[in-house]
Amino acid sequence: MIKRERWSSKMIFIFAAIGSAVGLGNVWRFPYLAGKYGGGAFLIPYLFMLFVLGIPLLIMEFAIGQKMQLGAVGSFKNIKHKLSGIGLGGVLSGFVVCGYYAVVMAWCIIYLVHSFSMRWGTDTKTFFFNNILHLSDNAAKTGFISPAILFSLILVWLMIYFSVWKGVKSVGKVVLITMPLPVVLLLILLARGITLPGAMEGVLFYIKPKFSALLDLEVWSAAMSQIFFTLSLAFGIMIAYASYQHTSSDIAKSAIVTSLVNSSISIVSGFAVFSTLGYMSLKNGVAISELAASGPSLAFIVFPKALSLIPFAPFFAVLFFIMLITLGIDSAFSLVEAASTVISDSFPHVRRQDVSLYVCVFGFASGIIFTTFAGLYYLDIVDHFITNYGLVAVGLLEVLAVGWLYGADKLRAYVNSVSDIKIGKWWEILIKYIIPILLVFLLISTIQRDMATPYEGYPQWSLFLFGWLILLIVAASSIICSHLSKKT
Ligand code: PHE
Repeated sequence: MIKRERWSSKMIFIFAAIGSAVGLGNVWRFPYLAGKYGGGAFLIPYLFMLFVLGIPLLIMEFAIGQKMQLGAVGSFKNIKHKLSGIGLGGVLSGFVVCGYYAVVMAWCIIYLVHSFSMRWGTDTKTFFFNNILHLSDNAAKTGFISPAILFSLILVWLMIYFSVWKGVKSVGKVVLITMPLPVVLLLILLARGITLPGAMEGVLFYIKPKFSALLDLEVWSAAMSQIFFTLSLAFGIMIAYASYQHTSSDIAKSAIVTSLVNSSISIVSGFAVFSTLGYMSLKNGVAISELAASGPSLAFIVFPKALSLIPFAPFFAVLFFIMLITLGIDSAFSLVEAASTVISDSFPHVRRQDVSLYVCVFGFASGIIFTTFAGLYYLDIVDHFITNYGLVAVGLLEVLAVGWLYGADKLRAYVNSVSDIKIGKWWEILIKYIIPILLVFLLISTIQRDMATPYEGYPQWSLFLFGWLILLIVAASSIICSHLSKKT
């Protein structure tokens, strides 16, 4: 029996978990969702989902990984051998996310280089779509690979590889920098943002609740998938990370700290982003709602433009993109770790360096499609399908397996036997009844919506190829994995 690796301290484990949770999802995805769904209207479902879904699920994933001392596949296999596919489904979904996540980081590297000269000028839209992405007219025109993005993507994957090559030992060192540094940078950008004229207008747009939006189910499903995404749930990451803890380590406090720090950072970055948009709206006379509704391009079109309007622009632009890169890197490598952990569990004699290398090369290769001229369309579709269906389905199967087969009461007893903060019976009720019902309900409503109108009006073949087909491959692999797994 090979001894399992360990985090060098409890603090490092929390740093790594927070590092995984806090990423582009907080500073890029959260603000654009908040903008898209009308600012303040998004915060209520978001906080609701955090407490009802996020924290209980994070406690569950930490507990399962720590109790079983295995990655996601092994952990579910231990519950019942035919369930190993649940773990694989999560890890594969995570792997797909990693493919495009690294590409977004590659854009950040290109922007970082251009920040010094503020190369994007005033027409940031043309710069992003034409000069950086070479975006084609529609999803059918794949075009060529953009060499600059491909080159940056290689850099990103080299950074990822050297962060994870020795498993938790190297991860433990890297997160000491990549977790706190972006937080400091964010605070500097926040201080700059809220002291700009017009900032208040932006902040008001962000925090003023719009109760009518709460009637829209789409807002609730967006909040739910954001909670999965932001807490890195259902990817097998938190299970893998917790499996390197001693079985007697505290769980409840770690989960609560990780979740609250993560959401605080999202909320703070909302203040930084919207105050800056308020300033931009004042200067250019464009409504904040219009600026905020720009979707995934918020960080690459609207924000660079806003930055170009403030004094010492290159300085703040450099900080902004270094922040995005350092935020993203520990999330990206946590996905690699989830996959490597599963592989190492099955093949303990293969050197960790080699496992990490294979996973990275594969991850890099799977991202190449997103560096083509139609990459942005593919990325948008894959993100929609994996976060709204893949993760939610894996999350659902996880709670059903833990709640009904392993026993929510048994797992709660374990959590309470090692934790300072004791969790009550409410947790069992959430895991067994409320969360599954919520997930099924939102899953159905998303399917209905997608059936009624094709997502963002993309052509059906592209939704099939980059959406349903990928989901099908993940599901089929998981079923085969379950089928083949033997009782141990
Ligand atoms: N939690 C990370 C974020 O918010 C993203 C992430 C997604 C990390 C999936 C790992 C897996 O950016």
